[in-house]
Amino acid sequence: MTTVYRDAAKPSFPLVLGIETSCDETAAAVVKDGRKMISSVVSSQIRLHEDFGGVVPEIASRSHLESVIYVVKKALSDAGLTDTGEGIDAVAVTNGPGLIGALLVGLSTAKALAMAWNKPFIAVNHLEGHLYAALLENEDFAMPAVVELVSGGHTLLIFMETLGSYKIIGSTVDDAAGEAFDKVSRFLGLGYPGGPAIERIAVGGDGSAVKFPQPMLNQGLNLSFSGLKTAVVNFYKQNPEFPIPDIAASFQSCAVNVLTAKAVAAVTETGARSLCLAGGVAANSLLRAEIKAAADAIGVACYLPSKSMCTDNAAMIAAAGYHRLQAGEKSSLDTGAVANLRL
Ligand code: KG4
Ligand code: ZN
Repeated sequence: MTTVYRDAAKPSFPLVLGIETSCDETAAAVVKDGRKMISSVVSSQIRLHEDFGGVVPEIASRSHLESVIYVVKKALSDAGLTDTGEGIDAVAVTNGPGLIGALLVGLSTAKALAMAWNKPFIAVNHLEGHLYAALLENEDFAMPAVVELVSGGHTLLIFMETLGSYKIIGSTVDDAAGEAFDKVSRFLGLGYPGGPAIERIAVGGDGSAVKFPQPMLNQGLNLSFSGLKTAVVNFYKQNPEFPIPDIAASFQSCAVNVLTAKAVAAVTETGARSLCLAGGVAANSLLRAEIKAAADAIGVACYLPSKSMCTDNAAMIAAAGYHRLQAGEKSSLDTGAVANLRL
């Protein structure tokens, strides 16, 4: 369990080093005042996992172990800092959710640095990090906001009243959106990671070629992607000659349609002033365009993190850590990694 306690005094932590190793990216970043990215280094393991069609946990942990020190050193030197810790005010790290062995590499590194440098240490929920990605790039963020967090492991609709106050108002009842992209891609032989592969091939396809189901479209704020995935698999088995770009484009268009409709329903239901996307699937161009158009149509502000800020990175972890530290929290050095940590 994460042990968090409140400091009596409330010091300021302008420069935070963030570390992220929850899945298949080894990342480190230096962020100023929780908003300004000074440096951000992401070392992707995609090539190591692509032959297996997905992330292999043991390979991920070993690769994080090999790269993490170099990635941290590069983030520090890109920020004009040395590795003595001088200038850094605190160390933030993801402690869950994620692959346990992968998380432990970043967590141990962050603890060791915090101890050696005698700096405060803060453990951050990876999902909370994703929520801060858009904040890093937008000075004025209209609150309350609805954030649609769509990643490989999660699909959540979050009502954000103020910074640090979240309420989950909808979630997938089965597969995450990114998981559906990854599984459909693997099944169609398009490779890993599935999201970018489907998006690429869908450019040459017709999104209205096949009418796949849009599960739970008009049923509250929860979502479901497993029926859509199964429908694609069954369709391809029955129509092996059908053009794959058309199948991919039709799948993408259904998934995006559901995600957009649910985001709009969440804004309408909560009266939020803005709509924001977060997580890896938020890099999808069709989803970005549809969400922007929908937000414009209902007259709320729309925040789309840049594509590199959608996928896993450490700047969002440093930003989330900064806000926790400023709120008077820090984590004890016996904080553990939690594979299924909840928001
Ligand atoms: O947030 P993220 O980098 O890692 C997790 O925390 O899961 O998200 C990774 C997920 C993968 O499922 C990947 O296929 C999906 O995001 N993704 C995309 C795109 N880029 C990444 N899905 C759809 N379109 C994309 N362009
Ligand atoms: Zn993520």
